[in-house]
Amino acid sequence: MAKKTMTMIDNRNGKQFEYDILSGTRGPDVVNIQSFYKDSGMFTYDPGYTSTASCESKITFIDGENSELRYRGQLISDLAGKYSFLDVCYLLMQGDLPDKKTSNEFDLEIRHRSFLHEGILKIFDAFPSGAHPMATLGSAVNALSSFYYEHLILENEDAFSEMRRRIIAKIPTIAAMSYKNSIGVPMTYPDVDRYFTENFLYMLRAYPGGKMRNIGGKNEEIRQVEVDALDAIFTLHADHEQNASTTTVRNVGSTGAHPYVAISSGIAALWGPAHGGANEKVMDQLALIGDTKNVAKYIEKAKDKNDPFRLMGFGHRVYKSRDPRAETLKKLQDKLKKDLNLDSNLLNVAAEVERIALSDDYFIQRGLYPNIDFYSGVILTALKIPESMFTPIFVIGRTVGWISQWTELVQDPKTKIARPRQLYTGK
Ligand code: ACO
Repeated sequence: MAKKTMTMIDNRNGKQFEYDILSGTRGPDVVNIQSFYKDSGMFTYDPGYTSTASCESKITFIDGENSELRYRGQLISDLAGKYSFLDVCYLLMQGDLPDKKTSNEFDLEIRHRSFLHEGILKIFDAFPSGAHPMATLGSAVNALSSFYYEHLILENEDAFSEMRRRIIAKIPTIAAMSYKNSIGVPMTYPDVDRYFTENFLYMLRAYPGGKMRNIGGKNEEIRQVEVDALDAIFTLHADHEQNASTTTVRNVGSTGAHPYVAISSGIAALWGPAHGGANEKVMDQLALIGDTKNVAKYIEKAKDKNDPFRLMGFGHRVYKSRDPRAETLKKLQDKLKKDLNLDSNLLNVAAEVERIALSDDYFIQRGLYPNIDFYSGVILTALKIPESMFTPIFVIGRTVGWISQWTELVQDPKTKIARPRQLYTGK
C-alpha cells in the first residue's frame, strides 16, 4: 500500500514539508509532525491539545461523534453492570477479561491488599478535621510513594503488577479514611470478607468495631442493589483515554517519577470543576435551581456570555453527541428509582434541565449534552454518599485507568519526557 503523507506549504516562501499519516485500528488518522520544528524552525500551536494525539495507546477508545466508549475493544454498555468492577480492572490492566478462577484469585488478592500501613494512618492525624477528602486523598496517595519506594526494572513484570494491584486495593481504604477524617470520626479497617465495592461502603458507614451507622433508628446495612449500582459507577469511570487527569499522570510519569506520585498528580487534576469536580457542583446546582419552574431562568444564565454561570454536568471536549457513560447511568437511574428511593425532586429538576437544554439552539449548535457527572450525583445521593465523596468515588474508579496508562507509558520505548514549547509574547 502506498505510504500516506500530508504536505504542508509555508505560503511565505513556498517551502514544502511532507509528513507521514499514521492509521490506528479505530479513530481518525494522525499526522506525525515530530520532526516539524527540526524541518521548519516553527512550533505548532494547540492550546488545550484540541487536535493533538499525545501518545499511542491500546487501552481505551472513544468515538465522540458516535457516542462510543470501549475498554480494550469492549463497549462500555457490555461491561457496566454485567461484569464486576474488579473484572473490568483486570481487563484494563491485562487486556482481556479474567476467567472465573483468575477473577476469584484477583478479587481475593485485592481484598488482602486493602489494608494501609499504620504510618499512613498517622499522617491523617496531622490533617485538620473538616479538610476536603480530595485534599487528604491526594496527599495520602503521594505519601504511599514513601512506603513503597522501589526501583522498578522493566523486565520485572511481577513488581509492576504488584505496584498496580496495591494502589487499586488501597485507594478505597484511603478514600474512606479521608472521609472519616473530614468529619473527625475514627476510621474503620477493611473487612476481607467483603468484596471491593461492598468493603468501601462498609468503611464509609461502619463505626470502629464494625457496627453499622444508625440513622433515624435504622441500621444502614449494605444492600446488594447498592453494591451493584456503585460497582457499575466505578466501571463507567474506569478509564477515558487521554483526559486531563490521565494526561497529567502521563506527564508526571514521563519524568520517571514514582507511579503513586504521578497518580496523586492525577487526583489533583481531577479535582477541578471542569473535570471530575463537576459531579459535586452538579448537585449544588440542582439544589440551587430547586424547582422545575426555575430551570428556564438558569438555562438563560448558562447561555449569557457575560455571566460566568455554566451548566455543570453538560458538555464534553470529545463527545459532541451523547456521552455513552451518561446514557448507561441514566438507564441505571431509571432502574434504581424505586429500589433506592431516588430523590424525586432532584430527578424532576434534572429531567427538566435536560429537556429544556436539549431543545435549545445554544446547546444543540455546540453539541452540549449531559455528561457522566450529570447523572452520577442523584444515584450517589441515594446511596447515602456525602457530596464531598463524589469526586473521591471518581478517583476510586479512575485509578485503574491511570495506573494502566502509566504502565503503557513506561513500557513504551517511544516515550519521551513531556516537554511542550510556547508562543512567547512577553517582554
Ligand atoms: N454550559 C454553558 N455553555 C457551555 C458549557 C456549559 N456547561 N460547556 C461548554 N459551553 C459553551 C462554551 O461557552 C463555548 O461556547 P462558545 O463557542 O460560544 O464560546 C462552547 O460551549 C465550547 O465550550 P469549551 O469550553 O470551549 O469546550 P471545551 O471542550 O474546552 O470544554 C468542558 C469542555 C470543560 C467539559 C465544558 O463543557 C464545561 O466546562 N462543562 C461544565 C463542567 C463539566 O460538566 N465538566 C465535566 C466534564 S466530564 C468529566 O470530566 C468527567
